[in-house]
Amino acid sequence: MSDANWVELGDLNDLRGQALRVVEIGKRKYALSFKDGKFGLIDNSCNHVGGPLGEGRLDGEYVVCPWHHWKFHRCTGEGEPGFEADKVPGFTLKEEGGKLFVDLNSGTKRNRKPHEPHPLSRKIERGDGPVRIVGISTTAMDERNPRYSTSDALLETGLEHAKAGGFETRYIRLSALKFRNCEGYYSKAARACTWPCSITLMDSKDQLDQVYDAFVHWADIILVATPIRWGAASALYYKMVERMNCIQNQVTIADRVMLRNKVASFIITGGQDNVQGVAGQMLGFFAEIGCAFPQFPYVAHTRGWDAEDMDENVRQVKHSEELREGVRALVDRSVAMAQVLLGSDASSAKVSRGGRKASPL
Ligand code: FES
Repeated sequence: MSDANWVELGDLNDLRGQALRVVEIGKRKYALSFKDGKFGLIDNSCNHVGGPLGEGRLDGEYVVCPWHHWKFHRCTGEGEPGFEADKVPGFTLKEEGGKLFVDLNSGTKRNRKPHEPHPLSRKIERGDGPVRIVGISTTAMDERNPRYSTSDALLETGLEHAKAGGFETRYIRLSALKFRNCEGYYSKAARACTWPCSITLMDSKDQLDQVYDAFVHWADIILVATPIRWGAASALYYKMVERMNCIQNQVTIADRVMLRNKVASFIITGGQDNVQGVAGQMLGFFAEIGCAFPQFPYVAHTRGWDAEDMDENVRQVKHSEELREGVRALVDRSVAMAQVLLGSDASSAKVSRGGRKASPL
């Protein structure tokens, strides 16, 4: 056993004033806690992906990591009940002459006990088989009392056409899924936004895993349908897109392209205008996560700024064979582009500075 190496941390009276803080000794950081008259000191770096434990909070005798809320005993560093073997180093303290000291040689061993990997974290491999197309409906809908949706109707036309052509299809209606808003893990730190998504890892009831699975592991073509709401895509579209930050972030922090050889195309319908604004956002976003586009990548329909008679809009879409033909042609172009990408493996698993806005990590 090595000799003790006592280092002063500061005045007891000063240090008692805060339940949890980060203290630095040399280049190393620690999480110092004070509760019920007793100090505790553990390493500052969380076992998960390195969150700063001393910037978290106390929950009883446990330090709660500020990034994804893993817990470690504030004195021993052991994980919370059930995860005791997942430990961060804990240190011996002593109080002497009104000062607090730590024995830096007393640190217990860090032990990472791997948590069960999430199914989404499996290797990304495209299995054999025909072109696969996932249709994403983003319109908000009372699922128990459904209404006719022009964007959904055209999306269904596109998927039926793909199926008839011998391609595989999935249809995902965001309005039928329960999923949380992005809670800004990226805003805490880039590394706090993980793949799989932090929320997906923490909340087994969150159903956006179906969309992640389709985008990352399954589909060759992502066909997104949205209505125009106040000149923008639907609220559910944005709710989904914000949760996709974890896909784009992998390019930025790990040089890892999650979406390869994939095509995105869009169906945009609205009683009122701003098709180009909506399409511009969608093109920009799906380009940023690594998708390619067919020539003329969207079909859109709108009746203009002053068209308030929405029942007429529904009637027009219902009866428009031209729009249906347009969607079928969009699916054909998307399939052709997907076949080119798959045949040539044109996308790269690493794209130097892709998504990094030209700056180094
Ligand atoms: S819980 Fe600490 S970094 Fe994720």
